[in-house]
Amino acid sequence: MFKCKQIILTVLGTMFLGSTTAHAQASSASPNDLQLSQEVRGILQAEMREIAVAVQALVLSLASGDWESIETISENIRASYVMEKNLTDSQRHELEDRLPEYFKRLDAEFHARAEKLGLAATRQDPEAVAFQYYRLVESCATCHSAFAKTRFPGFSSTSPEKHRH
Ligand code: HEC
Repeated sequence: MFKCKQIILTVLGTMFLGSTTAHAQASSASPNDLQLSQEVRGILQAEMREIAVAVQALVLSLASGDWESIETISENIRASYVMEKNLTDSQRHELEDRLPEYFKRLDAEFHARAEKLGLAATRQDPEAVAFQYYRLVESCATCHSAFAKTRFPGFSSTSPEKHRH
């Protein structure tokens, strides 16, 4: 059971690495689904790149039973809110006004899942950690399929209705 999940996670991780590099160049020129200004979009993209590095590091930590590093990385992800970055007042207002409620909900859920992953790591329970890791990566895909279709065209056939309940 656990072995099978590990294989799935490894495959997922590899797919993700591939997709981030393949589309890296298209990002600044493409239109953005959230209609953010270039500045604020740049801050969001920078946060995303940090998260992507952290998530890839988690795979290795999980594979090697390094619970302490999973706790540290999860805490860093949990605490990283784009809204809490060094923003000017007008950038903060822009985010509050432009980000739809559904985005904010997914963002909150994402950070809550990072916390659960950290808790599973404190219990040193490989199966629970693998499950919470899967849940975390699932929330990346859920948000991207709703709000980053231009950036990740692989989600362009996903119907938005499915996510708006
Ligand atoms: C609540 C929404 C949300 C969640 C959760 C989320 N993302 Fe994103 N992400 C976005 C949006 C929106 C963009 C597109 C930004 C743009 O280019 O306009 C994006 C873009 C990215 C990018 C491209 C950045 C660039 O430089 O162009 C990467 C990499 C990324 N996300 C990784 C992740 C990973 C890994 C996770 C989960 C561990 C994750 N994201 C979770 C909303 C989210």
